[in-house]
Amino acid sequence: MTNLQATAAAMVAPGRGILAADESVATASKRLEAAGVASTPESRRAYREMLLTTPGLSESVSGVILFDETLRQSTSDGTPFPDYLHDHGMLPGIKVDTGAKPLAGHPGETVTEGLDGLRERVAEYVGLGAAFAKWRAVISISVGDGRPSRACTAANAHALARYAALCQEGGLVPIVEPEVLIDGDHTIEVCEAVTTDVLREVFAALAEQGVDLEAIVLKPSMVVPGKGSGQTALVTEVATATLRCLRASVPAAVPGIAFLSGGQGPEMATAHLHAMNRLGPQPWELTFSYGRALQDPALAAWAGDGGTVAESGQAALRHRARCNSAARSGTWTVAMETPEEGDVG
Ligand code: 13P
Repeated sequence: MTNLQATAAAMVAPGRGILAADESVATASKRLEAAGVASTPESRRAYREMLLTTPGLSESVSGVILFDETLRQSTSDGTPFPDYLHDHGMLPGIKVDTGAKPLAGHPGETVTEGLDGLRERVAEYVGLGAAFAKWRAVISISVGDGRPSRACTAANAHALARYAALCQEGGLVPIVEPEVLIDGDHTIEVCEAVTTDVLREVFAALAEQGVDLEAIVLKPSMVVPGKGSGQTALVTEVATATLRCLRASVPAAVPGIAFLSGGQGPEMATAHLHAMNRLGPQPWELTFSYGRALQDPALAAWAGDGGTVAESGQAALRHRARCNSAARSGTWTVAMETPEEGDVG
């Protein structure tokens, strides 16, 4: 096993998942301000310190994805965040794409940018202690408008594959994230067809670029009905459709699949992961790499205390991380969501 393969296996090891805390300055500012906290480099640092220093977090979290600003920041006692994570049994990751930009000639569609200079940035991030990277491609569905177009799927798959090859060359495990957005009025059937097609295209591009599939982590969206579709899907339907899609498109060489939450509520994201892990062994580990579904309750609790008391936010984060850890082995229960007084910590 190569070092990168070992890192990828560690990222998706049983019982653990990934905390996505790599919001750009613009997105982090939006979320902090919505919670009533002014966004400054120091408030963003303090918020990330609250998350990362949660006691016991490493029991259910294998790694944390950071934004460039955070990777260069430190805890209040001066320990650089990447060092803090390594010292506490978690791997630091870094978002390396520079965002989804309008795709020329294709209104409503984007291609994710960030390949220029990526080899040099990867080398710098390795020097700063990063162990893995993330790149998010965004696919939107609008059946009436012919979205996604072939051009959008192909451009994003190609960019993901070139990013993954550059990361592996430079010593980072690439998280390959093709997100099919939940926005739209499409049915779950359309979501499944589009997601299957996108994943097949991504794996064809990864093969073409010579990417080692045993040294990546796939971060897909789940197969769900569009938010505006009016369709509701049972938890078991989402689990069945998502696994059918993945089995039809993801090679067994991939060590693990770490889902994004994509606008699902925290408990729903846990319930879906749990249901998938109840459906029996799969070729890959099935885990979480949630952003909002892990952070939203923690941000609300922390901001509710004026951003000064770490413990309330940390209790909320630890609780969600534990619930998702249980979902990894299909042992989550609804009762876990209403813990006894004092059991949250
Ligand atoms: P969400 O879980 O909030 O979708 O975020 C995951 C992520 O990393 C998006 O790129």
